[in-house]
Amino acid sequence: MTGCPFHAVTAPAAPTAPESPGAPSPPLDPLLDPQLCMRPPGEPLPAPLRDHGGPLAAVFSRWLRQRDDDAHAPQKATLTRALLALSEDEVRSHTRRQAAIAMLAGWSHWSWAVPASTVASLLGLPMADVAAQRALQADLRAMAAGLGATADAAAVQAAGRAVASLLDALDDAERRAPDAPLQWALLRHAPPERWSDRATFTANRLALIWQSHEAGAALLGHAVMSWSRTGEVPSREALMRLAREGGAVRVTRRFDVRDDPPRAVTVPLAHTDTPFGDGAHRCPGQGLALSTAQIAMAWLAEQSDLSPPVAIAPLSLPNMDIPQFQESTP
Ligand code: HEM
Repeated sequence: MTGCPFHAVTAPAAPTAPESPGAPSPPLDPLLDPQLCMRPPGEPLPAPLRDHGGPLAAVFSRWLRQRDDDAHAPQKATLTRALLALSEDEVRSHTRRQAAIAMLAGWSHWSWAVPASTVASLLGLPMADVAAQRALQADLRAMAAGLGATADAAAVQAAGRAVASLLDALDDAERRAPDAPLQWALLRHAPPERWSDRATFTANRLALIWQSHEAGAALLGHAVMSWSRTGEVPSREALMRLAREGGAVRVTRRFDVRDDPPRAVTVPLAHTDTPFGDGAHRCPGQGLALSTAQIAMAWLAEQSDLSPPVAIAPLSLPNMDIPQFQESTP
């Protein structure tokens, strides 16, 4: 039996002896199973990125989300420390500003734009108007298309241009606004020297915006749906409940390296206690994601002149449904 190649040394051990002789071992939670890996051994890139390369492939292979090497655990720990160093006040002021800007473009834009624009703003990107939010959304959508299982050369290249432009913008923010809350927290607690190289640092800095994009829009979209159904602004606990009920990431994927070739396994997250994942790859952005959604919903509740959101068909992705709303301006 083999484990993930270079699996993080801190990965939980496989279950030990059964509690009483002869009793079967309890099944191991797939998210804690060291034989279930993020990528098949020897295949750090999905086929479209392997075939077409470019900046998206370069960041993908460095993302913590895609790695099980020995450096994953220490790098994840430093990133987690940086995210924990953000204060609620900083998150509140950036979220409220992005929520107010996004509402100028109406409901169809709002729940998509607020999560990623807030992270970008906390990193010091100049998210001063709807045009900046739309440009960020366009880059993130290009990345999503390039990450598709059947992405062609054109999609991977367009995604590569988006990645290059976001990496440049983040380098620029580091020079121009090193005291922006999340930029400062990263430079203080997870600086480039704590990563294998600067490229790994910058790839994972970009990953913070990327990871907040679809999952954040799913959670905030479901919060808007719940608010318009019940009239109550969801509390943090209610947001967690929404995520548990499938209103965020519903499933994740692993490769079972006990099989040859490794078998793709779908692991449920909806209707479990761990909608933000568990084990080595548990979401380090859970607190930030919940705070952003809660603060954005509280901002909504303070607005007296909004037209009600009208839901249209959600965007159905393999791992989540993202609520969408009719184009409308308040
Ligand atoms: C500010 C927003 C967010 C940030 C910065 C963020 C960041 C991250 C990062 C860096 C990872 C990779 C961790 C690793 O592999 O070691 C991750 C994983 C994950 N995130 Fe988030 N995330 C955010 C929002 C969300 C939201 C809203 C959800 C919805 C429930 C979510 C669910 C997850 C899950 C389930 C995983 C683990 C995936 C797996 O194990 O396969 N994240 N997140």
